[in-house]
Amino acid sequence: MAERPISTLNKPDVALELTLRPALFSDFTGQTKVKERLEIAVTAARQRGEALDHLLLSGPPGLGKTTIANILAKAMGGNLKATSGPTIEKAADLAGLLTNLESGDVLFIDEIHRLQKTIEEYLYPAMEDFKLDIIIDQGPNARSVRLNLPRFTLIGATTRSGLLSAPLLTRFGMRERLDYYVAEDLQKIVIRSAHLLNVPIEPAGAHEIARRSRGTPRIANNLLRRVRDYAQVKGDGQISAPVADCALALLEIDENGLDEMDKRILEAIIGKFGGGPVGVNSLAVAVGEEPDTIEEVYEPYLIMEGYLNRTPQGRTATALSYQKLGLKAAGKQQPTLL
Ligand SMILES: Nc1ncnc2c1ncn2[C@@H]1O[C@H](COP(=O)(O)OP(=O)(O)OP(=O)(O)O)[C@@H](O)[C@H]1O
Ligand SMILES: [Mg+2]
Repeated sequence: MAERPISTLNKPDVALELTLRPALFSDFTGQTKVKERLEIAVTAARQRGEALDHLLLSGPPGLGKTTIANILAKAMGGNLKATSGPTIEKAADLAGLLTNLESGDVLFIDEIHRLQKTIEEYLYPAMEDFKLDIIIDQGPNARSVRLNLPRFTLIGATTRSGLLSAPLLTRFGMRERLDYYVAEDLQKIVIRSAHLLNVPIEPAGAHEIARRSRGTPRIANNLLRRVRDYAQVKGDGQISAPVADCALALLEIDENGLDEMDKRILEAIIGKFGGGPVGVNSLAVAVGEEPDTIEEVYEPYLIMEGYLNRTPQGRTATALSYQKLGLKAAGKQQPTLL
């Protein structure tokens, strides 16, 4: 089924991402535990002169999966060959990619949950034994040939790890999930990006941007670019807190960084299901989104920010959600519009 972007602000701006994307772990802010584990794995693999173990990176869009894959390839001294699940249409496409790798290279498969099942099966021996069984010729001459592959590292990225099959999941020696960034880390990211873009920024201005970025570096960078335009046209080019505030208000960016789907989810729980508890499937139908996307992309942020609770009976809205929508929390009663 077609996937919708999380919001227009979370759409990658290719040129901007290239300039702002950290190339080294030392420039990569936040995700401390993940970073530490990966740095240890890199050092250990390098000391042994081996390729890095296969890695699955999961987490909502814009949190740094592609960035980490690039950092790892560089840290291992290999090249990164990037592709994505839906673009590998035939086994021959995969064979082409794999046989062109050199020892120590990283094959990065984005949206790996969208890989076809038949292609996935070719990956198993490639990941486990660095072998590829391909069929050459057709009809009576068809025969299977086993190719030896160089020791490569597969890095898979997915926003929806729940859709990956168990055999594929278990073939990744390392699995890391990226979490939303706290405002403090986003503020550091905004300041770093502003320096790279040559925009003067005050810490308080960076904080205004950070807290509206839905815990997401990509959104933070996009908002920064918009605020930069505003500061240039309406001010003296400097991003202070009042300038950031005015720019973001003009752009109608939600004060707490919630996007349209976040609000739809809260509205559905409160308006259609009396505040919950409601199961994820009913909620998904009500907002017109996939249950997996709700669980893996939207809910984690809403839970982290205290808008939603996940209980064994289902999802419930918190007092903060009612407040957000301008409604009175009414306990067991139906909510009333203020
Ligand atoms: N920890 C970080 N520090 C600084 N900048 C970051 C960090 N993580 C991400 N970014 C910035 O955010 C942008 C988006 O990150 P990235 O493309 O790696 O996300 P992604 O997880 O691959 O998203 P998607 O799921 O949409 O592919 C990058 O271009 C980079 O500039
Ligand atoms: Mg990516």
